[in-house]
Parts: sequence; structure tokens; C-alpha cells
Amino acid sequence: MEAILLVGGMGTRLRPLTVNTPKPMLPVAGVPFIAHQLAQARAAGVTHVVLATSYRAEVFEAWLGHGDRLGLEVDYVTEEEPLGTGGAIRNASSGLRADADEPVLIFNGDVLSGHDIGAQLRLHAEHGADVTLYLTEVADARAFGCVPLDDHGRVTAFLEKMPEPVTNRINAGCYVFRRSVIDRIPEGKVVSVERETFPGLLADGAPVMGYVDTAYWLDLGTPEAFVQGSRDLVTGALASPALPGPTGERLILDGASVHETARVFGGSAVGRDAMIEAGAVVDGSVIQDGVQIRDSARIVGSVVCAGAVIGPRTRLDGCVVGDGAQIGADVELAPGSRVWTNAVLADRAVRLTSDL
Ligand code: GDD
Ligand code: MG
Repeated sequence: MEAILLVGGMGTRLRPLTVNTPKPMLPVAGVPFIAHQLAQARAAGVTHVVLATSYRAEVFEAWLGHGDRLGLEVDYVTEEEPLGTGGAIRNASSGLRADADEPVLIFNGDVLSGHDIGAQLRLHAEHGADVTLYLTEVADARAFGCVPLDDHGRVTAFLEKMPEPVTNRINAGCYVFRRSVIDRIPEGKVVSVERETFPGLLADGAPVMGYVDTAYWLDLGTPEAFVQGSRDLVTGALASPALPGPTGERLILDGASVHETARVFGGSAVGRDAMIEAGAVVDGSVIQDGVQIRDSARIVGSVVCAGAVIGPRTRLDGCVVGDGAQIGADVELAPGSRVWTNAVLADRAVRLTSDL
């Protein structure tokens, strides 16, 4: 079985996390995010993957190479200028080997899910569908593709990012395409699979099926979701064959040092060669490689990127700290703050209260 992974997006909503690293390569529970997706795909029988890259394409190849570390065969097809989701799928088709009628799996490169890929493939085969979409249900569908079905599970419309969604059933970002349908997408131009290809197929009366699965699902498009996804993998709320250690309160990678009086919990992940000093508290956070957290700092629900330094007694809650940033002592940032790549904040530069 072959798969295409769409990984060319800019990850704008995650900046500064994505200033140096494309979203699918950001560490989640100790490994680049796509490692979890690829390991799940492999478990479902995928053997050959074409990565549709664009933004910072080189970062993928540097880590994944030909895919040996995940037991997969991986090829890369790179867009000089992003071609959109449909254009990227069409472009990646040059790397496929499947016959015209065979199914090809396609994954958005930023979705963490526990759905049954095998069941989705079976539904596709049973109905002789052109495309079978994995659908899930969310409380607020406005940020997603809305997908109403008829009584037989056939898709009746595809409505991308509607202000007033007609259903809470949404496109969960994993498709099965008949190979020949991919090859009918126009070549070499920007195409949105959501706004053009799916509505076009439906207008032509093509058989498009919805596979509804309400297992764990998360789009890692925001810093909050990113931290939550990492936490859920570390604690085992979602199983992943790529988790580099046992599930539990924390995941500490090789070379990291955590002082015996520091507390690391809540599904936190601590990267290689990171250092957490005496009395520090790290709760439900992602601490990337080489980060230094000084004594009695308190980090909750935050992402601290590679090589950043967090000063003594500094407090972060729901914050993002970019690569190489340095935050001094006794800083207290407002929840949701984003400290940019390589920024320097002096001791006591920002406070929320006057009683420090
Ligand atoms: N190669 C390539 N080229 N990949 C791209 C491009 C491109 O031009 N544009 C986007 N992608 C990749 C992104 O990297 C991401 O993995 C995936 O395509 C989806 O793009 P997002 O930018 O994350 O879209 P979204 O989250 O707003 O919406 C999509 O996902 C939702 C589910 O998470 C849509 O498919 C919605 O319909 C869906 O509900
Ligand atoms: Mg997304």
C-alpha cells in the first residue's frame, strides 16, 4: 500500500515554533510529529510513502532519509512554489507506483488520530468509491471542512470552513483515493482538494464515501493543540508505535538531566541534553533539545524550543518560547505569550503582578 503525506504548509499559526522547523517535523512526545503518523500508517500496511514537501523541504530528508528508521520506503516530491493540497497530491503522484484502480492513502501532515485506517480502506473497497474521506465530529466545525452524508454514508457536499456549518461532521484529513482520480487533478497549478477537487467530484456524481470514526482526533494547528497532542502521547491517552519510551507522567530523552528536587509531570516531554535545575516545575509542557530551565522556574502547558534558556523563578503558562530565546530571572509572562526566536528578555522584564 502507498501513501502521500501532505507536509508543505507553512505552519503560520504555530509561529515562532515553525520559524526553523516545518510543522510536521516539530518534536511531539520526543520525536518529529510525522514519526507518529508514519508509524501508524506502517502498522496499517503502508510500505511506500511519498512526502509532498514545500516549506523547508530539506528538514524532512535530513531526519527521515529513505525511511529506514521507520521501516518504510520514503520518496520526496517537492514543490518550488506551494501548489495547494490538490496540486500537491497531483504533483506527488509522479512518485507513486500503484495501478489506476488501486487505492492510495493521503494524510494531512498535522493530524493526530487513532482512527481505524484498515476499516476506512475496507469501506472504500466495498463501495468501489473514487474517494473515501475519514470524518470525525467536533463541537465547532467552523475551522474545518464540513461533510454532510446521506443515509448510505455517501458524501453529499464538501463545504470548507463555513461560518455557519451545516453539520458537526468534518473532514478529519485522511483520504483514500483511487489512483486514477489523483491523475485527473490538473497538473502544475495551484489546486485545493477541499475547495475544488471534492466539490468537482460531487458535482460530477462520482462515488465519494464518508468513513465516520470518532476515535481520538486532533489537528495540531495551534500551540495549545500541539502541547495537548504531545501530552496525550506521553501519557498514553493515544497510543503511538513511535513513542521513544514508556508512557507515563513524563518522557525524558537521553542526555537530559532533571535535578532530584525538580518536578516534571502531566505528560511533559524533555528533549535531549536539556537541563532542569533544582526546584523547577514542568507541567504538561514540551521542552525541546538543549533547553535550560533554571532553578525554581515554573513552566505549565508551554512549548520551549531548542536551546532556549528560562531564568530562575520565571513563570510561563500556555506560552511559546522560540529557538534560542533567553528569558531572564523572575519574568512572568501573560498566558498565551509568544517569545520570538533568539529574543532576549532581561531579568524582571515582564511581570503580571507587583509582588515579586
Ligand atoms: N505539499 C503541500 N503543498 N502541502 C500543503 C500545501 C501545499 O501547498 N498546503 C497545505 N499543505 C499541507 C499542510 O502541511 C497540512 O499538512 C495539510 O496540507 C492541510 O493543510 P492545513 O493548512 O493544515 O489545513 P487546515 O488544517 O486549515 O484544514 C485542513 O485540515 C482539516 C483537518 O485538520 C482541511 O483539509 C480541512 O478540510 C480539514 O477539516
Ligand atoms: Mg491543519
